Amino acid sequence: MSGFDFNKRDSFGSRLGVIAAAAGSAVGLGNIWRFPYVLGENGGGAFLLVYLLIVFAIGIPVMMSELVIGRRTNRNPVGAFKLLAPRKPWYLVGLMGVVSAFMILAFYTAVSGWTLEYMYQTVTGGLVDKSSDELAGMFHSFRAESLRPALWFVIFMLATSAIVLGGVRRGIETSTKIMMPLLFVILIIMCVRSLTLPGASEGLDFLFKPDFSKITGKAILMALGQVFFSLSIGMGTIITYGSYIQKDNNLANTAVQVSLIDTMVAVLAGVAIFPAVFAFGISPSSGESLTFIVLPGVFQQMAGGMFFSFMFFLLLALAALTSTISVLEVIVAYFSEQLGWSRKVSIMVATLSMFILGISASLSLGVMQNVKIFDLNIFDLLNNTTANILLPLGGLLIVAFLGWFFPSRDVRDELTNGGLLKARYYYLYRFVIKFIAPIAIALVFLNGIGIIKF
Ligand code: TRP
Repeated sequence: MSGFDFNKRDSFGSRLGVIAAAAGSAVGLGNIWRFPYVLGENGGGAFLLVYLLIVFAIGIPVMMSELVIGRRTNRNPVGAFKLLAPRKPWYLVGLMGVVSAFMILAFYTAVSGWTLEYMYQTVTGGLVDKSSDELAGMFHSFRAESLRPALWFVIFMLATSAIVLGGVRRGIETSTKIMMPLLFVILIIMCVRSLTLPGASEGLDFLFKPDFSKITGKAILMALGQVFFSLSIGMGTIITYGSYIQKDNNLANTAVQVSLIDTMVAVLAGVAIFPAVFAFGISPSSGESLTFIVLPGVFQQMAGGMFFSFMFFLLLALAALTSTISVLEVIVAYFSEQLGWSRKVSIMVATLSMFILGISASLSLGVMQNVKIFDLNIFDLLNNTTANILLPLGGLLIVAFLGWFFPSRDVRDELTNGGLLKARYYYLYRFVIKFIAPIAIALVFLNGIGIIKF
């Protein structure tokens, strides 16, 4: 029996609330931590170009499709597919999303914990007067030699669970509306400082001047994975949020606005980071430590730098929190609606099991670095498998489902709110989800892992 009750479901209160919550899910460490380091490792400007192309050609259509499925069914991803395609295996797409949610939450919450460490370091004076080498050493020893990553993980996980326990509307909507604009403002101040450092122009060239020889199959796959990760798509997060969206919301507008906000924040993070990377003589391919080494260096060069440092890491932690709650919500909606557990029990079970996976991920670059699967430590395994494989695969199946196996008239009905909106883009959208997006994802994927070669 499912404990599903149509009338008891929570929903978002206003249009701004919808955008705030979905953008809150999308904007986070993916933009400020993951985007810069993946771009730095995969060719700079050329990567950015491919990234932007994928946002428009694939990202936005996938997000619209998830919103359609979610709002049409009012259910969690598994329940949604069961309702739309009874007795067919499509619900496995939803189940794959729940598995991805576990994997993402584990390493993502671990990185969220790093933001707490940097707040702590700011307050205790650990970031003052440090050279880039010292900052790199500090980051390394924090992860390699202490148990603090696990401690911060636990604290962050408990905060996430507490908010999800508080309910969808109250918990998610209010905090996002205030915090996100603040983060945006601070990011712009940091861009200004970074751009006025001596030697900054080299960083701008790196970010905005594409060198087409850098566009390899692997770089395109990394860009695809980064788009899915950053927009929170391919896993059912947006299906779940879509299920809380009211019937008069214009879903296409929501998808476009959220994607634009998310992309803007990623580019701003790039502008805040790369000029400083070159000004300080750091390698742009420093990997997952990049943001955490470069930005403290920028704060040192600012008047009132430690104030900005504290505010920035606080806001980044909150941006991460609005993302972790959206991932946990997928798991909880599945447990409570499909398995019939109460939300409280669902949250408890999810949180406790997350401790095992998340603490392992937190320590997998230190105490547990010898635990390797496919030659990757647990952190990298979770990070790469979700972004580059599970999310694009999920996205492919979602658009293929709507494009090929679901009545076009129903999709249109949902996008036009029952005929009230015009949806002039509809035939273009339909063409994209039937052909462009699935074929492009499949080709990028096969090319990226080396099965076919252009
Ligand atoms: N998009 C978020 C970020 O960029 C992370 C995130 C939240 C996510 N929910 C997700 C990633 C679902 C993939 C799938 O920080």
